[in-house]
Amino acid sequence: MNSTTATAAPVTAPVTVESDLQIAGDILSVQHLLQPASEHPATVAEFVGLARSIAANRAEWEHLVEYDATTRWYHRLRTGPGYEVWLLSWVPGQGSGRHDHGASSGVLTVLDGELTEHGPRGPLTLGAGAQRVFAPGYAHEVVNDTLEGAVSLHVYFPGLTEMPMHSCSPALPEAVSA
Ligand SMILES: [Fe+2]
Repeated sequence: MNSTTATAAPVTAPVTVESDLQIAGDILSVQHLLQPASEHPATVAEFVGLARSIAANRAEWEHLVEYDATTRWYHRLRTGPGYEVWLLSWVPGQGSGRHDHGASSGVLTVLDGELTEHGPRGPLTLGAGAQRVFAPGYAHEVVNDTLEGAVSLHVYFPGLTEMPMHSCSPALPEAVSA
């Protein structure tokens, strides 16, 4: 007999492949496998959600609002890792001037009253509950064009370190402002 003759591989039973879910079992019953609940927002959607939750909780901010006819009033409502939340009031006629937000992104939420945003696409009326999300470098001007006070909430991420002012107003037609 030839000693180099190959031997047949042993016959084995077919292996049943189970899904990870079957192997892991019920993930809700294994606490250490769950993602920890996020204490602080980290995505744009979460910053928008944070602003909405603060807007809905008037007890957190309503008593803090002040109206100041001499200057725009603002109050830092909350800070967290990499973000800040500001509360602003606007008496009739007050405006921000055209500006951008440096390296910060932001979420603007109108809490009370009505504001007009003059951005790249022209004026936009923002009533209570309206939200605007903007990226770094976005320039706009916000004005209270009404006869009533207005309150807004501003989330900046990262926190606002500069707010460069721009000289021209986008409210003016191109032919006029050029
Ligand atoms: Fe702004």
